[in-house]
Amino acid sequence: MGINFKKLSLNRCIAGTLAIYLVIFGFIIIMHISISNIYAMFSKYSYSPTYESDVTYVEATDLSKMSSLRFSLEDMIRLKNSVSMELRDLELKRRKILDELTTLTKKVNETRAEILKVQVEKEKVYKSLEQAKVMRLEAMEKNTPELAPPLHIVPQYDKESKYIFDKSASQCRLDYCFDFSQCPLTEELKVFLYPVAERAFVDTLMWQKALESSGFITKNPEEACLYFVVNLNKDLTKLAHWRGDGRNHVVIDLNNKSLSSMSRAIYARQYSSSYRKNYDIVLPFTKVSSDILSLPPLSPARRKYLLSFQGEVKSQSPEEQIVISVLKKLQLSTTDDKFLIHFKCINNVLSAEEEEYALCGTYQSREEILKESTFSLILSPQDFKITSTKSVQQRLYESLKFGAIPVILGYIDIPFQNEIDWSRAAIIMPKARATEVHYLLRTISDADVLSLRRFGRIIWDKYFKTAETVVATMLSALRDTLRLFPSPLEETPSLSVFNSTFNPLKTDPPPSDEEIDEYLGPIEPPLASPKFVRNYTYTTMNSYERWNVMFEPFHLFQNTPFDPVVPTEARFVGSSNGFRPVNGGAGGAGKEFSEVIGGNRPREQFTVVMLAYERDQVMIASLGRLNEVPYLNKVIVVWNSRQPPAEDLQWPDIGVPIVVVKTEKNSLNNRFLPFDEIETEAILSVDDDVHLRHDEIVFGFRVWREQRDRIVGFPGRFHAWDPLYGGWHYNSNYSCELSMVLTGAAFFHKYYSYLYTYAMPQEIREKVDEYMNCEDLAMNFLVSHYTRQPPVKVTNRWTFRCPGCPVTLSEDETHFEERHKCMNFFTQVYGYMPLLNTQFRVDSVLSKTRIPHDKQKCFKYV
Ligand SMILES: *[C@@H]1O[C@H](CO)[C@@H](O)[C@H](O)[C@H]1NC(C)=O
Ligand SMILES: *[C@@H]1O[C@H](CO)[C@@H](O)[C@H](O)[C@H]1NC(C)=O
Ligand SMILES: *[C@@H]1O[C@H](CO)[C@@H](O)[C@H](O)[C@H]1NC(C)=O
Ligand SMILES: *[C@@H]1O[C@H](CO)[C@@H](O)[C@H](O)[C@H]1NC(C)=O
Ligand SMILES: *[C@@H]1O[C@H](CO)[C@@H](O)[C@H](O)[C@H]1NC(C)=O
Repeated sequence: MGINFKKLSLNRCIAGTLAIYLVIFGFIIIMHISISNIYAMFSKYSYSPTYESDVTYVEATDLSKMSSLRFSLEDMIRLKNSVSMELRDLELKRRKILDELTTLTKKVNETRAEILKVQVEKEKVYKSLEQAKVMRLEAMEKNTPELAPPLHIVPQYDKESKYIFDKSASQCRLDYCFDFSQCPLTEELKVFLYPVAERAFVDTLMWQKALESSGFITKNPEEACLYFVVNLNKDLTKLAHWRGDGRNHVVIDLNNKSLSSMSRAIYARQYSSSYRKNYDIVLPFTKVSSDILSLPPLSPARRKYLLSFQGEVKSQSPEEQIVISVLKKLQLSTTDDKFLIHFKCINNVLSAEEEEYALCGTYQSREEILKESTFSLILSPQDFKITSTKSVQQRLYESLKFGAIPVILGYIDIPFQNEIDWSRAAIIMPKARATEVHYLLRTISDADVLSLRRFGRIIWDKYFKTAETVVATMLSALRDTLRLFPSPLEETPSLSVFNSTFNPLKTDPPPSDEEIDEYLGPIEPPLASPKFVRNYTYTTMNSYERWNVMFEPFHLFQNTPFDPVVPTEARFVGSSNGFRPVNGGAGGAGKEFSEVIGGNRPREQFTVVMLAYERDQVMIASLGRLNEVPYLNKVIVVWNSRQPPAEDLQWPDIGVPIVVVKTEKNSLNNRFLPFDEIETEAILSVDDDVHLRHDEIVFGFRVWREQRDRIVGFPGRFHAWDPLYGGWHYNSNYSCELSMVLTGAAFFHKYYSYLYTYAMPQEIREKVDEYMNCEDLAMNFLVSHYTRQPPVKVTNRWTFRCPGCPVTLSEDETHFEERHKCMNFFTQVYGYMPLLNTQFRVDSVLSKTRIPHDKQKCFKYV
């Protein structure tokens, strides 16, 4: 009301001024007319050139007339002077009033602008208030139940008694052979490991060491859930915690000392004729160490031999002879497919059990052949009762490693059958189909060959590579079976560069140079993404994805980009918590849209992670531009310089916390560390000199919310093939195809910062450190490798680097050279080029739509 009143009086004031102005103006016009008349009269008498001569002719009688005329002339002149004086006065007054008028108009303009600003501010506050109200309601809705410890199920027998398990142990199932009471759901898996003799076999030591470093080991047998024994020759029943039946024991049985299955222990073996389904463990073959860079690339899909096999068996059964003769004939095939099938070893035969197909040659000679084979044949032992042998496991290991897709004929117990989807890595058929093998292999397309090989290579790398890998896999599989969830990966502590006594200087943010007067969203109080809410479901219902899509069954994640969404209607009937449907679900354009976040998921915010390196003023300016960005939760500045920030550096107060994080060394890998201060799923990674407009940021965030497993961002680049020399080139030319979005300005899920830091091959992080370059490429490789999707580029309008900023590294020639090298190196590490091309860019829904002028678009400019 106060404002209205002010406005009214202001209008009155203007009206009054105008009236005065009009009166004066009228008067001036009248005066002007009379003065011109006087001028005319005066000029008739005084300025006529004929005047003197005229006078001589004037008669005496006219003299009196003349004098009176002269008199009146003097009067006139006087009058004229005074009038012109007045006129000048009036002119001055007019000027003054005009000046006053313009200042007043200006004031009116300013006041109007102020009113508008106040109104916008009021609306913002109002919306934030509304948000807060809804939030309070939601908070009250939360009623978490008390967490009670799980029931302690006491086994039906006495712990001390020398109870010997009966014959049914040969059919052990987890639910009646395993003592769950030692493994409560809410606790991590704990393993007690029996020591081995110091002078043990190499293999024994390999497994023992791997177990010791697994991170699951407890020294206290009382709190253990599992007890591991490696290759013990002595009597198992004498083990300290065997308790008569070996319950909860896992026996890694390497030398096949005809162990009786008549116990509750779980056996892990390579050779077996008596695996108890879903109970015993098929122990894969593995090695102490393995170099990922020595592996052959995935491409070309077709190698020299379509199928290869080398193996020997001492005596053949009549049935086996038929299979062998069919397979031998493959080499005589009239097609142009090549086969290498040897049932007699050319050089040395590895010692093996009688019934199995012994390996031929050396590790190196087998490697040579497998690297040239598209498929590799693995035959089950002749004796169908034997479902796994050491050489079968070794064949599987070597085939996966060298990219020869396993073709398994006959039944074999494959490692981790419940976890790994082997149909994605191998072709499995009964021996009776030996006659159809060739035909079938021919039908498999190059794309399928490559994806079988890719899957095989990944599972080899993740689950079989070394003894440590196998132990981690085995323990994860056991843990999954017991329904215990894994422990999360460590977050990086965000240590502040400032000591506890130092208070960094604050300053008001610079005035916004945003040319847009657009409402982009409410300024909300900070809101962390909920974390660890799916501990149990993630472990159980996402088991397949964890093992076969994400390849990360070893750890628990706060949240992942793959967490499920509720069906749309659920948000309106019972599951509305956290959701902010546009216009309450009625939908709408610009105004309604900008007020809430909408989308398919509950509302959320994002964190800016900015990498800073010795360009303080540039960084401070970039920080200042983040003032009042809607949905911004926090800013993490990764301080990559040895020197702490200058004490007199003034940090803009932008409405959200700015956390300046100290780093151990100047490394570009630091920008992707999973800092504990990052409390949102979404991370907006920016360089310190990036200039993104608020509407671009908000739009990017909205897009990311629907593409949570991708990199969503602004600067696009692509990988170009060098037709002359082969290999890849990094290319930043204008192009209608892109395959990377640089992380100098891109959104991604925090999940990927864990993968980058922990799951990505170490060789890549080392290369990034070696060149001080390519971390953005590495991130693109990583995400595309896991998702097999290209990144998402958003918006057309885009202002990137700040003008006048110091020249960035990227202009450098060597910088480009290094990036070419990085691309080829990363490709070698992955075994293939993970990047994928894309030809599309995301704009907001109504971006180019013609809409009535009284309607608003989603965004004005993007
Ligand atoms: C006041 O605003 C009007 C229209 O918005 C504009 O034409 C005029 O130049 C402004 N006057 C001043 C003094 O800023
Ligand atoms: C391994 O054990 C099985 C019985 O479980 C036996 O048949 C086989 O001969 C043994 N092999 C060796 C090499 O000890
Ligand atoms: C904390 O840091 C400030 C500025 O770097 C410094 O002046 C001060 O001595 C430090 N205090 C302590 C206790 O280290
Ligand atoms: C899930 O696991 C994490 C990490 O172990 C733990 O911090 C969190 O409390 C657990 N949440 C629930 C609901 O069990
Ligand atoms: C741009 O493309 C040209 C060839 O068309 C190539 O020579 C040049 O290296 C490219 N520039 C960059 C930065 O990749």
